[in-house]
Amino acid sequence: MSDAVDPHLEAPAGPHTRSCATELVCRDCGYRTPLLDRAFKCPACGEGLDIDYDYERAKEAIAARPLGERPLNIWRFEELLPITSQRAQARVGQVSGQTPLIHAERLGAELGLNRLYIKDDSTNRPTLSYKDRVVGMAIARLLELDKDEVGCVSTGNVGTAVSALAAAAGARAYVFYPGNMEKGKAKACRALGAQVCQLDGNYDQANRACRELSLSSGIEFANITLRPFYAEGAKTMAFEVVEQLDWHSPDHFVIPAAGGTLSSRVHKGLDELETVGLAATAATKINIAQASGCSPIATAIRGGGELEPQTPETAAHSIAIGAPGDGNLVIDAVRRRGGWAATATDPEIFEAIDLLGRTEGLLTEPAGGTTIAATARLAQEGKIGPDEVVVAAITGNGLKTLADHPEKPWPEMVPANVEAMGEVLAEFRASAATALH
Ligand SMILES: Cc1ncc(COP(=O)(O)O)c(C=O)c1O
Ligand SMILES: [Zn+2]
Repeated sequence: MSDAVDPHLEAPAGPHTRSCATELVCRDCGYRTPLLDRAFKCPACGEGLDIDYDYERAKEAIAARPLGERPLNIWRFEELLPITSQRAQARVGQVSGQTPLIHAERLGAELGLNRLYIKDDSTNRPTLSYKDRVVGMAIARLLELDKDEVGCVSTGNVGTAVSALAAAAGARAYVFYPGNMEKGKAKACRALGAQVCQLDGNYDQANRACRELSLSSGIEFANITLRPFYAEGAKTMAFEVVEQLDWHSPDHFVIPAAGGTLSSRVHKGLDELETVGLAATAATKINIAQASGCSPIATAIRGGGELEPQTPETAAHSIAIGAPGDGNLVIDAVRRRGGWAATATDPEIFEAIDLLGRTEGLLTEPAGGTTIAATARLAQEGKIGPDEVVVAAITGNGLKTLADHPEKPWPEMVPANVEAMGEVLAEFRASAATALH
């Protein structure tokens, strides 16, 4: 295994961040190894490694630095993030995170939820999805390791995030997509200077092949070999939401799950906020949204059973992962917190995209449509009460996927004169009036 042959055990040069990260740890068997080790999975049991922190030190360091002195980006609570080189940290993620939390009153009225909030990561930067948070962490780690090449395997958004963040950091990016990718995202990678390769297989097959390639080539892969660091970036969503709610943790999160990184790390981030004394978060439930055509996590939660891999069959490509790497962590988080899960068919997902668009003026991609459709279902099923505080994670932007959304009938072209346009306008107004009633 190349991670055993080529351990990186030299501390990064230069000044340190305030990170209180201590070690890589296996939550399954307790194996521990220094943070500077390049291992990403446990040599004893094969589980993915997690990052551990000195929480006592983090608590003191957080209390000692007022909020006003903290940056408004993903590094705001750097004590609880794994990057130790200040030089690496300064070159990545300065514009990522701190996305809006929007009280969605009009959408809430449609769903019967009075305190519904949208965490709008469709406006995350630089690439308009939640992946800017996690990939930011991975690229910072890449720089910490003094590397200038990075690969990734992507359902869509990881690719664009890796392309952009690697470009800005001066690293070369190689993006591997499964066969049924959304073309706009792959074109964006090319425009951002990355090399792109489409693989003849679904995401799970591509993922397995990329794992082998990363080990045989020694090239770091943002969401494989750098995964323990990558995953930590997702905690920043939890930190931001709780701060945006004035340090009151919501009653519910509704989070779309693919590999399960976001949902499992929001859980970890909430636990950490409680541990360092920033907020009481234990009562917050995490609910999972998945497409009916790829719902291994939701099926296990709703059925009370084990995680069974599935073969994805859905237009929600960005969340089409049939063998989720962090699936068991998600199921554990949901069960421990008392949350639930809901699925949505492809037509329901596209209807929900339109519902979010016409009520809140936010254009999301199928992952976001899945979140909204699942939130509606959870409200209908009584899993979410009308006056509970709900945060629905809108994790990607519809501008990137619009070409893949179902076609709608297009109005016929009319002459550019007032008479013809007057007729069209009358039709518009009549149909708008029906839509309002
Ligand atoms: C837009 C969007 N939302 C949600 C997810 C789910 O992410 P995770 O793998 O963290 O469960 C992904 C990626 O896979 C995504 O691209
Ligand atoms: Zn282990």
